[in-house]
Amino acid sequence: MKTSIPRISSMAHYHETYAQSINHPESFWHTIAQCFTWKTPYSKLLNWNFTEPHVHWFQDGTLNITENCLDRHLSTHANRIALIFEPNDPASPRRSYTYKALLQAVENMAQVFSNAGIKKGDRVCIYMGMVPELAIAVLACARMGAIHSVIFGGFSAQAVADRINDAAATFVVTQDLAYRGAKHIPLKAIVDEALVHCSSVKHVLVYQHAHSAYPFSEPRDINLNKALESIQDTTFTAVEMQAEDPLFILYTSGSTGKPKGVVHTTAGYMIWAQYTFEQVFQYREGEVHFCTADLGWITGHTYLLYGPLLAGATTVMFEGIPTHPHAGRFWEIIDTYGVNIFYTAPTAIRSLMALGTEPLQPFNLNSLRVLGTVGEPINEEAWNWYKKQVGKNKCPVVDTWWQTETGGILISNLAGIGPERASWATYPLPGVQPVLVNEHGHVLNSANETVQGNLCLQFPWPGILRTTFGNHQRCRENYFSMYANLYFTGDGAYRDTNGMYRITGRVDDVLNVSGHRLGTAELENALNHHPLVVESAVVGIPHDIKGTAIIAFVICAANNYNTTMLLTEINATLQHHIGAIAKADKIIIVPGLPKTRSGKIMRRILRKIATGDFENLGDTSTLVDSAVISQLVDAAKIFY
Ligand code: WTA
Repeated sequence: MKTSIPRISSMAHYHETYAQSINHPESFWHTIAQCFTWKTPYSKLLNWNFTEPHVHWFQDGTLNITENCLDRHLSTHANRIALIFEPNDPASPRRSYTYKALLQAVENMAQVFSNAGIKKGDRVCIYMGMVPELAIAVLACARMGAIHSVIFGGFSAQAVADRINDAAATFVVTQDLAYRGAKHIPLKAIVDEALVHCSSVKHVLVYQHAHSAYPFSEPRDINLNKALESIQDTTFTAVEMQAEDPLFILYTSGSTGKPKGVVHTTAGYMIWAQYTFEQVFQYREGEVHFCTADLGWITGHTYLLYGPLLAGATTVMFEGIPTHPHAGRFWEIIDTYGVNIFYTAPTAIRSLMALGTEPLQPFNLNSLRVLGTVGEPINEEAWNWYKKQVGKNKCPVVDTWWQTETGGILISNLAGIGPERASWATYPLPGVQPVLVNEHGHVLNSANETVQGNLCLQFPWPGILRTTFGNHQRCRENYFSMYANLYFTGDGAYRDTNGMYRITGRVDDVLNVSGHRLGTAELENALNHHPLVVESAVVGIPHDIKGTAIIAFVICAANNYNTTMLLTEINATLQHHIGAIAKADKIIIVPGLPKTRSGKIMRRILRKIATGDFENLGDTSTLVDSAVISQLVDAAKIFY
């Protein structure tokens, strides 16, 4: 028997609920956990410290998340649509799955995976486009206890290889070809290129989505369509998982080194996904939810797939891009399916805003009840446009702040309940205990003035990351070592006298480009692979649509090159190592970089130069060679 999560219904109720969650976290989360299906109940609710770090929620309980996403809904709404697939080309067949049909598809897929040799605990890398089989493959892994690692279909072969190797994945699930707007992405061929560098992979399961030929080499490759055809509607019992068994790995960029595999575990992530989905969007029974994120990112995991399915909602999965074949595609989808909750990124809003209101005209958008934004700070202009033009001033806008590492939303207003204030994510969700810390590591306690600092969390919530795959030390160093006993987010924020938060963005060396995280170290490492690049430094500067533009300063080994060709080649190197999202907006060839005596690059100076501000470079006295400044300015001037 499913019980419902107690819903916050007013601000007074929010404050009361929040206080309870802080003062009595164990009884608070115990009540919420009763709304889920467990195979064995847990005996210990929470065990934690932020020094190792070590966080265990609902330890010794056992469950399977897919029973909670699918089986548990069958007694009440087996025939409700769980998943709607909207193809890239609106003329292609649309598909939808009821809860019953989705469960059957997941069971069949799990059977195919099992026949192929996938076992509990195996890492399965899923590199696909936004087709239902991607969602089904993810859920099939969860059903059998395999750990899924979804890789965004825009990443390059090298990036795919790095992720497969880091996770020592034994299986890859991919498709022949993905459609994105007018582009066709040959995913299988990219996997083949990646696998030249990977020895752990035993089999590649290939889903044929298009009708053209693609490279296929038996016995390594398995035709997923054929394998599925041979499975008659099977019953695949959900594997019993420990609450803290890993559910998935998702790679994300940090301020140092290569992307790291953030690990989320089963019970805590599940509870956080449904709890936050229902509270933030104030989900109502039977609503249609359209999250525009790709499943390759955390937003797709939590608010396209797991959150809505756990809540029993109808989720829309869109294969294409907002401007193909016309600029009203999102709005058309909203009207076609009667979407009630629409969740997208500021970068998408800004690019659609730039096209004016004409593409909106043919659509009434009457079904919309809530709008959400995620991924980067939203500027007031974009917020106002969204509220007025898309929401017709009748839909609350929720500005949801969170990260890959947090599993789900941590700070957000609650639709129609909390105050709405452009650019302010406002209040922490129950269970979330944010603190702001100044540059000396002191917690800013003052409630009588607006304070600004680095955003940290001082208590675990169920959805917090547990480790970084294969390297717990890295997890500690990245998130838990900057300030004692605090999880450091990498973001800066203000808190006003009402206790509301405004997130200002990254304070570390991570760039947020169109809502995608890219580490400067990762970009520089990729640039340095070009044979003529001796050294490089990357900075981000404000960009109207993308939020941040990538500016690369590079020192080249020779000077008898064709500049245009070299710049194209260097950009190709970036994209080869990371993917199209890493394209630099400007590459500036320079004779030297501004370094301190300890060898640290002064990015502050580079950022000024990159924005064309050549006059106010601030204190340059700690530079080893201050002559480098005028050389840099001369090199950059041609761009401004
Ligand atoms: C940024 C995406 C301001 C932030 C869910 C964070 C935001 C990073 C917001 C995480 C928001 C996300 N307002 N900034 N509402 N949401 N961010 O891991 O800098 O891809 O650290 O997770 O996005 O990006 P990630």
